[in-house]
Amino acid sequence: MIKCLNLKKIYPLKSALGYAALKGINIEIRKGEFAAVCGPSGCGKSTLLNILGFLDIPTEGKYFFMGEDASSFSDSKRSFLRRKKAGFVFQSFNLLPKLSVIENAMLPLLYLGVSRKDAHKKAYSLLERVGLSSKSENDIMELSGGERQRVGLARALSNDPEILLADEPTGNLDSENSLQVLTLLTEINKERKMTVIMVTHDMKLAAKAERIIKIKDGEIQE
Ligand SMILES: Nc1ncnc2c1ncn2[C@@H]1O[C@H](COP(=O)(O)OP(=O)(O)OP(=O)(O)O)[C@@H](O)[C@H]1O
Ligand SMILES: [Mg+2]
Repeated sequence: MIKCLNLKKIYPLKSALGYAALKGINIEIRKGEFAAVCGPSGCGKSTLLNILGFLDIPTEGKYFFMGEDASSFSDSKRSFLRRKKAGFVFQSFNLLPKLSVIENAMLPLLYLGVSRKDAHKKAYSLLERVGLSSKSENDIMELSGGERQRVGLARALSNDPEILLADEPTGNLDSENSLQVLTLLTEINKERKMTVIMVTHDMKLAAKAERIIKIKDGEIQE
């Protein structure tokens, strides 16, 4: 599903030559795999995830997504792929506090032009899946951290993504809630044969993935 060839990301800096955050990543990820990405702060994990999720482009090298060279796609093609094929879960949830639980979960579908009625139905079934249908009309502010992340997961799944990208999804959760979110991620990976790539600092959580990709200083270490 994913193939990176000598992927490099050099962030332009006001001074000097720019910062090489990824220095030639070669990696293949099969459809349905659950991979954890680990490594010290600043090693390039989020940079890599952003490229894999079509949020950013590499400076050099190629990113093939389902056989197509995504590194050469236009902005509009990338934003289409992002909305259609990718789901994102963030460390800080990134929910909209002015919208209700279900409205947050529906949002990606409304952006895709799905009717409110169909989006509501789909979002409700996903809230049921993550155990939150009883709070679908609540405000986001009325939820605990673990509950908020489960809304984040329902939202990420609403467009039936080919690939689920999670950047430290348990970074703001206690160990019990972390485990609950991780269990949901592993179940969804199996149920839907969905490719999941999760960045985490926590080796205990990473150990539950099928595969661990260790990054150090912008390179794959292991
Ligand atoms: N927009 C940017 N401009 C310049 N440098 C950047 C930019 N974004 C990230 N970097 C640098 O690139 C490196 C990799 O950043 P990245 O966010 O990918 O790290 P990370 O592994 O996700 O770290 P953390 O675990 O702290 O989230 C860091 O040294 C960072 O300072
Ligand atoms: Mg990061």
